[in-house]
Amino acid sequence: MSNLKNTDLNVPLEENELGLQGFETPRILMDLIDEDLTSLLEITNRPVVSARQFDRTQLIQLCRLAAKYETQPQRLSRPLTGMILISAFYEPSTRTRLSFESAWHRLGGDIMSITDSSTTGIAKGETLQDVGEMLNNYGDMVVLRDSDESAIYGMLETLRIPVINGGNGSDEHPTQALADIYTILKAYPRLLNNCDLTGESRLKIGIIGVPNLMRTIRSLLIFLKYFASGIAEIIFITEDETPLSDKQRNDLESENIKYRVTKDLDNELPHLDIIYQNSIAWLGNDYKQFGSKYRLSKTSRFKKGAVVLHPLARGEELDRSLDKTPFNWYFAQARGAVFVRMALLSAILKIYS
Ligand code: CP
Repeated sequence: MSNLKNTDLNVPLEENELGLQGFETPRILMDLIDEDLTSLLEITNRPVVSARQFDRTQLIQLCRLAAKYETQPQRLSRPLTGMILISAFYEPSTRTRLSFESAWHRLGGDIMSITDSSTTGIAKGETLQDVGEMLNNYGDMVVLRDSDESAIYGMLETLRIPVINGGNGSDEHPTQALADIYTILKAYPRLLNNCDLTGESRLKIGIIGVPNLMRTIRSLLIFLKYFASGIAEIIFITEDETPLSDKQRNDLESENIKYRVTKDLDNELPHLDIIYQNSIAWLGNDYKQFGSKYRLSKTSRFKKGAVVLHPLARGEELDRSLDKTPFNWYFAQARGAVFVRMALLSAILKIYS
């Protein structure tokens, strides 16, 4: 009640500030990247389970297509008219489900949503294989989120329509990482210059979280290797003693990406160009919150021009006082997810609006 009393209902709602938070930056990507959709043909009619399925060229072309959708919404036709997305979320979601649904709607399609596993036959013991077999008849694509990382593979056994991984347990979240890279390229388009970056122009990236346990970071690290030449160092900031898996270490080392682990955020923060913060990890059927020790707010000592990313939902680690500062790129990240998902849907269905 008290919040309502403090709200002046006679004042028009604030408009988005387009200059702030990167809303206008997709135009730069349009100018810098030559469109070449041929690389995306390999994605046609494929399931998307892991970030490992994409190469650098496809990633950049998806970002270019996303930038086109973001900058030219008035030019959209409705190529998905008559097609149905099955949005199956057996684990809670705000951004992934709604941004996929927004993306599908913007392209003209219809949606059926499952937001609670207790409303499907799975609650009665029906197998994922049987559910997959049924979904073939009811829609044209599935987006699946499940806290069981193997669920998507179970459904893939019988699905004959494409499925996109909307987050499988603590394993991967490839489309979140697409949104992350899209935002990073908008903030630092120089990463597109594969070989020409040296010295100060290379980025120091701080990742606050536990890479081994957090699916958004797991997928992001796979994509970051495509920009290895533009990365001076990745610094993992965590209290966990063994935050990286052997595979993650091998991946970083095979790309000659310098990295280290520290517990000391204050010491690192003034030198970081990108700060990627995450605090939630799915462990079995429940989530665990990490990292409230590492709190970012408007009084944090950021480098000038630094970019803060967070896949959200946030906890107390990301203070709302940061929202109205130029360091806030996490809202642009959440907004861009719609356009990058439109790009991915277009590539899978081979419809380029
Ligand atoms: N980033 C993300 O996955 O958010 P949701 O859990 O709200 O989908």
